[in-house]
Amino acid sequence: MSAYLRSAAEDPIRRRDGEPVAISVDGERLTGVQGQSIAGIILATGRLDWRVTSAGSRPRGVFCGIGVCFDCLVTVNDEPDVRACLRRAVHGDVVVQQHDPLPTPVEGSIDG
Ligand code: FES
Repeated sequence: MSAYLRSAAEDPIRRRDGEPVAISVDGERLTGVQGQSIAGIILATGRLDWRVTSAGSRPRGVFCGIGVCFDCLVTVNDEPDVRACLRRAVHGDVVVQQHDPLPTPVEGSIDG
């Protein structure tokens, strides 16, 4: 049987809605479906950024979407530096944005 003759219900890679999950993002309750990444749930609300850079406080959200750039870092359940694009949302996750200030130069170092 050709793949073109399959009905949508028989398509093995069709979209399957999972169980709903609810997470808290900066105090706001957001809902998604089981298997969806934290970034996916946030992006679905129309929000494009959720942290700022240490230098210049520039907004960041998803850039690569595959876990390479670390632009999407968030704190999840008190665990910092979680890549929102890779982490699947779990019902009840508490997500907060993080801002890491630049380290202060040590006196006597090359920079200080
Ligand atoms: S968007 Fe690049 S690591 Fe998450």
